[in-house]
Amino acid sequence: MSDHAPVDTGTGYGRPRPTFMRELTLVGPGTPMGELLRRYWHPVGLVGDAGETPTALRVLGEDLVLFRDRRGRPGLVTARCAHRGTTLHYGRVEDRGIRCCYHGWLFDVEGRCLEQPCEPDGGPQRGRMRQPWYPLQERYGLVFAYMGPPARKPVLPRYEILETLEPGEFLEADDRSVGGGGPAVIPCNWLQHYENLMDTLHVPILHGSFSGPQFTAPMGLMPEVTWEPTDRGVKATSDRRLPDGTVLHRISEAVLPTLRVIPNPRVAQYARVETIGWVLPLDDTSFRIYTAGRVREPGEIASVRSRLHGKLWEELTPAEHRDFPGDYEAQVGQGPITFHSEENLVSSDRGVALVRRRLQQQVDALAEGRDPIGVSFDSAAPPVPFEAGNFLIERPPHAP
Ligand code: FES
Ligand SMILES: [Fe+2]
Repeated sequence: MSDHAPVDTGTGYGRPRPTFMRELTLVGPGTPMGELLRRYWHPVGLVGDAGETPTALRVLGEDLVLFRDRRGRPGLVTARCAHRGTTLHYGRVEDRGIRCCYHGWLFDVEGRCLEQPCEPDGGPQRGRMRQPWYPLQERYGLVFAYMGPPARKPVLPRYEILETLEPGEFLEADDRSVGGGGPAVIPCNWLQHYENLMDTLHVPILHGSFSGPQFTAPMGLMPEVTWEPTDRGVKATSDRRLPDGTVLHRISEAVLPTLRVIPNPRVAQYARVETIGWVLPLDDTSFRIYTAGRVREPGEIASVRSRLHGKLWEELTPAEHRDFPGDYEAQVGQGPITFHSEENLVSSDRGVALVRRRLQQQVDALAEGRDPIGVSFDSAAPPVPFEAGNFLIERPPHAP
């Protein structure tokens, strides 16, 4: 027997080069997920972000400029000027569109070139130039963009929970990535956050005991969880038996491809979900969350941002971030794009696996020439209903 026989000790030496699921993570034009995401409308700003000062945006890996002409029409164009490529972020907004700072070409909200002041006779060929642009619609306090094939542009969906207000409620929109556990722009791949919506069992650990209770005491109890595919995506049902024998029956939904329909984790009231969030991939390694919801006080959406000792995430010291990790730390801690080849999924990861499978099914549908779930071309379709909410019941429906 050799002195140098291989011994399997599980050390880190010589392990295979790690890889990630490119199909589900990358969002640029021409990638499978990038093309899937481009079949839906996405919020790209608050209504107020479309104004007379051009706003530079990054969305799905594309650099864009959002503005509003002086006639009130919002416009979204690629940042790189169709003439010789400087950014329209330095442009000037006018009555009829945005004017590039370099040679003064004027583009309207649909990218038509209206003026070329350096050309003889104002540029007789200008009608042949077009600044790439994307359609916009404003709703729920947000500006939504459609960046996909024009022939497949769906209707911008309406959502029942934002269409039927209770007395005293009004709609509010927020762009601070509420639910992300950190700053507005979160530096990791969007899927790490999105699949976390169905990672129901991290709640009693990360938020309940490790850094907890970050939410309310009942949320720290270990729930009984079931995950199911729905015709909109995936839902998780978690039941927590409370000390008085009643049950906190909580339903959360991941509505594909990017909607987070998560009841308030602070369980302020037992009721249907009040807010929805759109996870917007800015590029492959960063995302942000736009939220719209029914509120009773201005600023209510942002008021649920997590606090430690009264301090917001950005006010914490490095030591506090280390000692009291939350969603931001856990998900950014997985790396810019997590290495799926190094994961070891177990039974409590069924919800995460289901989100990935449902997304993969939509990528496959597109490859087969079908439309993915959740797109509608019927402008008379009723608002989309959700099941999500926090409910108090006598006993869980699946109890013996
Ligand atoms: S680069 Fe924009 S007008 Fe010349
Ligand atoms: Fe969490």
